[in-house]
Formats: sequence, structure tokens, C-alpha cells
Amino acid sequence: MKGLILSGGKGTRLYPLTYTSAKQLIPVANKPVLFRVIESIRDAGISDIGIVVGDTANEVREAVGRGDRWDVNVSYIEQNEPLGLAHAVKISEDFLGDDRFVMFLGDNVIEGGISQLIAEFAHSDWNSQIVLTRVDCPERYGVAELNDKGRIERLVEKPKNPTSDLALVGIYMFDNSVMEAVNTISPSWRGELEITDAIQWLVDSGKAVHPYLHRGWWIDTGEPGQMLEANDLVLEEIDYKIEGYVDRDSQVGRRVTVEKGAEIINSVIRGPAIIGQDSRIVNSYVGPFTSIYHHVVVEDSEIEHSVVLEYSRLTRISGRIQDSLIGRYVTIERSPIKPKSHKMTIGDHSQVGIL
Ligand code: DAU
Repeated sequence: MKGLILSGGKGTRLYPLTYTSAKQLIPVANKPVLFRVIESIRDAGISDIGIVVGDTANEVREAVGRGDRWDVNVSYIEQNEPLGLAHAVKISEDFLGDDRFVMFLGDNVIEGGISQLIAEFAHSDWNSQIVLTRVDCPERYGVAELNDKGRIERLVEKPKNPTSDLALVGIYMFDNSVMEAVNTISPSWRGELEITDAIQWLVDSGKAVHPYLHRGWWIDTGEPGQMLEANDLVLEEIDYKIEGYVDRDSQVGRRVTVEKGAEIINSVIRGPAIIGQDSRIVNSYVGPFTSIYHHVVVEDSEIEHSVVLEYSRLTRISGRIQDSLIGRYVTIERSPIKPKSHKMTIGDHSQVGIL
């Protein structure tokens, strides 16, 4: 069995962070979402992985390489434009050959335990298996309607008036019959070749498409709020370890990870939280559900329920930063000189809340 990860697309809903970087590389609990996806596929016993890449191809290649770190072989498949999930399958035909495969959206984070499900599909006689879960806003996803025998009747992509609350999670398993499907369907009203239409084609052609109901959590990290939510959930799951330096004047809670080279000086860290490699927390408070990535400095400041990306600096901030997603190389500081005013250089599509 092979793995296909979709890591193209533009990530417009995560602007400004995704102006300069791939959304799949934004870390959740200090590990890029894409790396978590690779690990799930590797844990299912799959070692041949194709990654579909678009505008951010170079960055993804640089971060993932040939896959040695995970003991897998990674190939890259270039998609010139994000023309849909089924289009991504279509252009991957040479890579996939006649093998069964799992397709995983590179921006989805799911509670553990899915690897077994993927491995089982390898030996099943189903043509496809899809993963469904109940959601509050089905209109934001592809939705499945099941009949009273639990079989799939209809799939609709982002329906205006959903008749089911069962969303398609971004993990799909197929045999090579999906190739005929993606080569037969036409683009939808939004101009994309939809994977929901391809699966509908399989159902209508009498193929065996098995719906699996996932009962744990699942997040599509397309928006900042969802990114923070995924961070909350993963921070609760990880193993905590202190590998950096914590001085005697600091208090570090039980559910805190301090990575190598990080320093905690005269500060309070309440878990679940993670402080990344070579970051420094000085005279500060870091509250629950916070991920500080590598080479960050937090000094004379308070922050909680936030994600801070690499090489950013937060200094002498009055009040507490909360519910925030802070990008790379960002500086936020209270200026020691007068006049007292807010002075900002902020990228397009940024959102700043001021007291
Ligand atoms: O997250 C689950 C949902 O994902 C499903 O419920 C929907 O049925 C499915 O269409 C998809 O909807 P999204 O609107 O969330 O898809 P998005 O455009 O965000 O793309 C998902 C991933 O696939 C993302 O990592 C970018 C990548 N992608 C997307 C397109 C359209 C590609 O690599 N190529 C593409 O052409």
C-alpha cells in the first residue's frame, strides 16, 4: 500500500502566516502538521509516500527531504494549480500505479489510532474506505448521507443546506478503481475536481465504499481558531519531558516540555505547554495550552493559550497575550521611550486586538 499526502493549495484562510510559508508546515505542539501526517502513515506500515506540492513546493521539500528521518521514501508530485483533491489523485497516477493507497490531507490533525484502520484496508476487499465524523457545521465540509443499513447513499461537497452532520475527514483509502472515477468526473461549480464526486461515482458504479465512523477528535487546521484548537488537543496527548535548563527561581508544571537548549529563568510555566529548542523564557509567565517554537524569546511578559513561531521576541508586554497565533520573526515589545503609543509594522490580513 502507498501513501499520498496533499500539501498543495494556497492556505488563504491562514493569511498572513501562509503568505510566506506552507500551511501544512505550521507546527501544532511544536511539530508541523505535515510531519504528524507522515508519522500516521508510517505507523500504518507504509513506506512509499508521495507528496503533492504546489506553490510552496520548495519549502515542503526542504522540510521533509527524502523522508529518511521517518525511514520512508518520499516522492514529490507537482501540481501547477490547486484544481481539486481528485485532480491531485489524477496527476499521481504514475506514482500510485495499481497499488491500494491512503490519501491524507496535509492539514488535518486527528486523534491517534487511525494507523490500524489504514493497515486493515490493505488486506480488505473494499474498493474504498472513507472516514466520517459528526460535526457542528457540516456546511464547511464534504458531507455523507447514509441509508438505514449504514451504507453511503450520497456525498455532497460543502452543502448549503446539509441533510447530514457526518463530515468527511481528510483521510481516504482507495484501490485503483478510483482512477477511472477521477478521469470521468467533471469540475464542480467552484472549478475543482472534487473527491466527493469521485467517491459518489464509485458508489453509483456499485463499488464497495466502506464508511468508518471516527469517534475521537479531528481538526482541519484551515483557520487560526482551528490551529489553536488542534494545539490544545495535541498538547494534552504528548509525553512531557524537560531537556532544557530550568533555574531554581522558576516553577514548571508537570505537563510541560522544555526542549533541548531552552532556558527558563525566573518564570512560571503552567502546562500543558511546550517550550521549543533554544528558546528563552525570562521573568515571564507562560500559561496552559501554549506552544513556543524554537529560538523564541519571551521576556518580562505573560502569554497563554497561544502559539508562537520561531525566532519571535515578546518583551515587556503589559497585560497578557491570549488566544493568539504569532508568526515567525515577529517582534512585540513595549517601547521604553516616549511618546506612549502603539507602533506597528504589520503584514496584510493581520489581526491585532488592542486594550
Ligand atoms: O478537511 C476535510 C475536508 O477537506 C473534507 O470534508 C472536504 O470534503 C474536502 O474537500 C476538503 O475540504 P477543504 O476545503 O478543507 O480542502 P482544502 O482546499 O483546504 O484542501 C485540503 C488539503 O489539500 C490542503 O492541505 C491543501 C491540499 N490541496 C488542495 C487542493 C484543492 C492540494 O494539495 N491540491 C488541491 O488541488
